Amino acid sequence: MTTDGKVALVTGASRGLGATIARRMAADGWAVAVNYHSDHAGAGRVAADIREAGGRAEAFAADVTDESATGALVAAVAERLGPVGALVLNATGPQPEVPIEDLTWQAHLDQLTFFVKSPTLLVRACLPAWKAHGGGRVIQIGSDVVDRALPRMSAYIAAKGAQQALTRSWARELGPHGVTVNLVAPGWIPVERHAGLEVGDYLAEVPLGRMGSPGDIAETVCFLASDRAAFITGERVTVNGGHT
Ligand SMILES: NC(=O)c1ccc[n+]([C@@H]2O[C@H](COP(=O)([O-])OP(=O)(O)OC[C@H]3O[C@@H](n4cnc5c(N)ncnc54)[C@H](OP(=O)(O)O)[C@@H]3O)[C@@H](O)[C@H]2O)c1
Repeated sequence: MTTDGKVALVTGASRGLGATIARRMAADGWAVAVNYHSDHAGAGRVAADIREAGGRAEAFAADVTDESATGALVAAVAERLGPVGALVLNATGPQPEVPIEDLTWQAHLDQLTFFVKSPTLLVRACLPAWKAHGGGRVIQIGSDVVDRALPRMSAYIAAKGAQQALTRSWARELGPHGVTVNLVAPGWIPVERHAGLEVGDYLAEVPLGRMGSPGDIAETVCFLASDRAAFITGERVTVNGGHT
């Protein structure tokens, strides 16, 4: 698979890691579908920046946890940019701390909806084109919290663990269709929503001595999406400066 002219769909790309992944993939030659849910201005800015830099991009509003919306999203991307070649599953909702005394089934469902339901819907929607065109790429954005096992984050961690398990199972199931499925597991990467938080205690435990940047994650995604990673599937790549 060569990237030039191929289409990448990045979910949750109006800000945070997704916005940087979208920009970096465009710089690699991907036409980029910049998905968002509510931040119309943010997604529009990302797409406009890409076009100004000479790339191809459009913003696509869709709730990626909704079955009919995901089908319509993949169809709209195919119509406006071309069939999705690389699917980057990045979108997230809020990740609240919940002590076990307050942990409801709904709290679990809120996380599973983003990290199990949404990936399932989107992979299903892309699969016919991948089968027809001889392959595709799935890159899930997981998290190293699966290893860090933070207290009061069990719903988020359980869902991120499930996302990792899906990666391995889907890699085996979709390999015969030429589809690779991998997961990038970031450590704490400060983005807009972390403004004002102290990083000192965390940073002291990072062997490489700095906080990760969205660019560190985007580089890894670009590698996994590229021809250079053609024989890699079912893998998790942790990007956290050696923290775990
Ligand atoms: N940053 C970190 O430290 C870190 C560490 C480990 C793992 N991760 C993982 O990396 C991914 C990105 O995290 P982030 O920190 O960049 O998050 P973020 O800054 O909160 O951005 C979340 C993105 O998801 C979009 N979104 C929310 N609900 C959506 C929906 N229903 N449909 C479509 N898009 C939706 C948001 O767009 P709207 O505003 O338009 O809704 C936004 O663009 C997540 O999977 C997260 O678990 C992040």
